[in-house]
Parts: sequence; structure tokens; C-alpha cells
Amino acid sequence: MNLSVNIAGVEFKNPVTTASGTFGSGKEFEDYIDLSRLGGVIVKGVANKEWLGNPAPRIAETYGGMLNAVGLQNPGVETFIREDIPFLRKYNTNIIVNVVGRTISDYCEVAERLQTEDVDMLELNISCPNVKEGGVAFGINPQMAEEITRQVKKVAKQPLIVKLSPNVTDITEIARAVEAGGADAISLINTLIGMRIDINKRKPIIANKYAGLSGPAIKPVALRMVHQVSKAVKLPLIGLGGIMTGEDAIEFIMAGATGISVGTANLLNPKATIDILEGIEMFMKEKKISDIKEIIGIIE
Ligand SMILES: Cc1cc2nc3c(=O)[nH]c(=O)nc-3n(C[C@H](O)[C@H](O)[C@H](O)COP(=O)(O)O)c2cc1C
Repeated sequence: MNLSVNIAGVEFKNPVTTASGTFGSGKEFEDYIDLSRLGGVIVKGVANKEWLGNPAPRIAETYGGMLNAVGLQNPGVETFIREDIPFLRKYNTNIIVNVVGRTISDYCEVAERLQTEDVDMLELNISCPNVKEGGVAFGINPQMAEEITRQVKKVAKQPLIVKLSPNVTDITEIARAVEAGGADAISLINTLIGMRIDINKRKPIIANKYAGLSGPAIKPVALRMVHQVSKAVKLPLIGLGGIMTGEDAIEFIMAGATGISVGTANLLNPKATIDILEGIEMFMKEKKISDIKEIIGIIE
């Protein structure tokens, strides 16, 4: 049975990766799973300098998912290079660095600093607010999405994945914009903006007021967007949003994703990635599918 896939020239032993921000750099998971079984580890967002994140409470449960407003807390690219790359290199898996920033030059600085480091791909998180444009996320405006992709692509040495925000009217417009900007692959989706209210205190549960919704609740939206984008661009896709089982992952692959990422499921079950990988294998065995590539994008 062949589960290997190629995404923008990078070989993956299987399509299973970790969704940024739900797996750190894998240190908390190595007692539970063998990281070498994963196709890739997409690490928590890395900025040019340390970011402190948002005030608490910043996480809340919802039906079929959760809200988070962690605020991209991270120790910065130097600490990442010093501590996390050597840790991950002990394992035989692709290292994909999720890059965050508040200006285009913040993002470029991270990509430049990683030029000579042993990482396999970069993933641009364009859901971050652009401080120069009044806090509007780069990812909700096609011109800004194309521009940031083009600028980072100029300095990036590794293939560039651009991760799309679902908080737009037409996701295919943004997908085409990042393709025009030179992206090598697209991952989707990031979280949907949501809210919860504490009716006794009469205030939002999350200190930041609004927060990102993730988990099974968003899966149908994510799947629809992966399918639409697969028809709109030629780039390989990494699909994510509410994947909890191998069957969920197969749905994304049939919709057009070459790779998949596991996010919120890691927070419920530290072995989720491996359970999902084994679920994919079991489905392929049952249906006598000898190569995963036979089913990528089979839904018209
Ligand atoms: C606690 C938490 C932190 C996250 N941090 C990041 C991040 O740093 N960068 C990013 O691109 N996405 C981040 N995400 C979004 C996830 O990578 C993913 O796109 C989203 O949660 C949907 O997938 P899921 O439903 O499988 O969790 C975060 C999600 C959660 C729940």
C-alpha cells in the first residue's frame, strides 16, 4: 500500500501532518506517538521576535469544537532555530514552519532567517492582522494576499505554502491571488471567527471577545472550501478543519487535498494523528486502494 505523496516537490511518506498551533513543535507528543510516522510536523506560528499572546481566558468549548484566541504566542525565530529544529531533526519527518507577522517585512524576516536552516517548507499564516493596514487580516483581501505571497516568495528558500482564512465571501478569489503571487501550495482552512457569551456575567467568555472556531463543527465548511479551491487553482492543497478520524481525512483527500492536517483532535487525543493515519490505511485496505493518489480529488 502506497501512502506517499509529493507536495510542491517535497516527498511525504503519508499525507498526515499536524495543524499549526495544536501540536507545538511536538515535544509534548513524543511520549505518546512516534513522530517519524508522520508525513510532516507543521509547527506553531513563528514570528521574527517573541510574541506574548492574548490575555486569558482565551479558550472555550463549543458544540462540536472550541474557540481559541491564543494570539499566536511564540518565543520567536531564534529560539525556534536553537531549540525546536534540533528536536524535530531527531525524527524522520518533514519540518514545516508556520510563519506569522504583523507587517510584510516581519514575515520576510522570518523567511530570510530560515533560508539556511534545515526546514522543508514554510507555511504563511495570512490570517494575522496587518498593522500597517489598520489591522485587517492579510488573508481577506486578494491584493494584500498576493502581495505578501510575492514578497515572502522572493526571500524564501523553501517551498511556500500559503494558509487561507475561511473568513471571506469567495475563497477561490484569495486562492487565485496567492497562486498569482507565486505560492507553491495552499493549506486551508484556518479558524472561523466566532464568539461565546457568559450570560451570568453578561460579557464575552473569551477576553479578546472574538475567537477562532475549530474542530468538527467547521468540517463541512472546510471540505466545501477545499473542493472549490481544488477546482480554481493548479496548486497542491493541504486540507484541514475538524478532521477527527481516518474517514474525515479521506473526505478531504477525495475533495482534492493531497495532504491533510490534524488540529483540534490533538488536544482531545494525543495519539489522534496516528489513529487517523491508521484509519486511512484501514479504509484503503478495505476498499483495495493500493495507492492513495488514486483517490485524490476524485469528486467532480
Ligand atoms: C489552540 C490553537 C492554536 C492555533 N494556532 C495557529 C497558528 O499558530 N498558526 C496557524 O496558521 N493556525 C493556527 N491554528 C489553526 C489550526 O492550525 C487549524 O487551521 C484550525 O484549528 C482548523 O483545524 P482543526 O479543526 O483540525 O483544529 C490554531 C488552532 C488552535 C485550536
